[in-house]
Amino acid sequence: MASAYEQLPGEDGWPIVGSIPSFSREPLAFLTELRSEHGSLARFRMGGLDYVLLADPAGIEQVLVTEDDSFEKHEYLRDTLGDVIGGGLLAAEGGTWRTQRQLAQPDFRPERVRDYAGPMVGHTEDLLDGWRRHGHRDLHEDASQLTLRIAAETLFGVDVDDRADEIGAALDDVMQRFRADRRLLAMVPKSWPLPANRRYQRGVETLHGVVDDLIDEHEPGQDRVDLMSRLIQNYREHGEAMDRSRLRDELVTFLLAGHETTALALTWTLWLLASHPEIQAELSEELASHAGGDATPAALADVGLLDAVIDEAMRLLPPVWAIGRQAVEDVEIAGRRLPAGTQVMTSQWVVHRDPQLWEAPGTFDPQRWLDGRAGDKPRFAHFPFGGGPRTCIGDTFAMLELRLCLARILQTMEIRPGRDERPPLDPSLTLRPGEPVPIVAETRS
Ligand code: HEM
Repeated sequence: MASAYEQLPGEDGWPIVGSIPSFSREPLAFLTELRSEHGSLARFRMGGLDYVLLADPAGIEQVLVTEDDSFEKHEYLRDTLGDVIGGGLLAAEGGTWRTQRQLAQPDFRPERVRDYAGPMVGHTEDLLDGWRRHGHRDLHEDASQLTLRIAAETLFGVDVDDRADEIGAALDDVMQRFRADRRLLAMVPKSWPLPANRRYQRGVETLHGVVDDLIDEHEPGQDRVDLMSRLIQNYREHGEAMDRSRLRDELVTFLLAGHETTALALTWTLWLLASHPEIQAELSEELASHAGGDATPAALADVGLLDAVIDEAMRLLPPVWAIGRQAVEDVEIAGRRLPAGTQVMTSQWVVHRDPQLWEAPGTFDPQRWLDGRAGDKPRFAHFPFGGGPRTCIGDTFAMLELRLCLARILQTMEIRPGRDERPPLDPSLTLRPGEPVPIVAETRS
């Protein structure tokens, strides 16, 4: 008799590798088709593991919020990302995770995060100096450099100008291993001396080396506002040992989780604005009339279109396009029984573009967030930051950074796309562009 899992609609794929070939070729199209052909809970197999794609917002809420005790982070994440972030917050589980989260949480409250507004705007001004000198830019490269500099100053209290290229290259080396089209490679042990494995190891070593150096260079002081100082202080006050490897894991996690995702959100939002001049003009006017020339949290509080643009950009091009969990016990989700060991994949890409949830899902239409059309949706129709206890700890930080950087850029510059079509997507752990993202920037008259 077929098991509860096998009774689910879905596809079997090939022996052993299952659906890896189709997933690797075009993961976003594969998941979108799976959803449209087999419904909002569909099974597929990859590398001997039983997966389901869960695209039903109520079911996602069960997995991430109400039944989250029945799940842990999925096998693939822990197996692959473990070398890079060790026991850092993103991959930790159980009591260890709870303690880490409690100790880091206070530093991500809005009143603390506001301390970082100065560096966020300051580094954007430096970027704009470069744009004034040379207006033909690669958005992804510029946004990555910007968010890296902001992360280094706010997280570590240091300037990384001389090491920004090295860190950027190391992140590229690490992220290439997680590219969806390398999924087959992920079945090969990381110790095998393949070029991709060597590149990955090199990236991991560089990242660890850089963070070790940053820890050495860091000078503790009473009035330091950087996250590292606060984290060390929090651990000390709670009598928790913060040894070097634990500190390094945590900081690499924040560097990776915080910089990569925010760079992509900024890249895609600016790309969409460059490609929709009428929306860009409307936002610039709103920034001028409500915030004057200011880019401060208070001045931007009333610019509703700014948040609508960011929400809409992260709906269409979510920096994190899928979240995975594995069931640690048998559990009922969306009315179906999932056996322990099932890998549950939820996908922002699929849900954010579901025509049953969103009117004209492929259209960039920020107004839907202002006229009530987006507001009547289930909670998990839009979840760029995840949800439940493992929700993104940096969401307030990211939203502040996006608001300030976008406002400063649009108050100063007018941008247009440097190519006709959007660059192809290269889904890794995050939704990266597969080619440069060219724009032309001109100072606003
Ligand atoms: C637009 C920017 C960002 C996006 C779209 C984003 C997205 C996400 C998502 C979807 C998760 C949940 C993953 C899961 O449930 O498996 C997450 C977790 C996390 N994010 Fe973010 N993130 C962003 C910015 C940041 C920033 C700025 C930081 C830190 C400075 C950060 C640090 C983390 C950490 C540490 C976790 C793990 C939390 C835990 O498991 O307790 N993220 N992020």
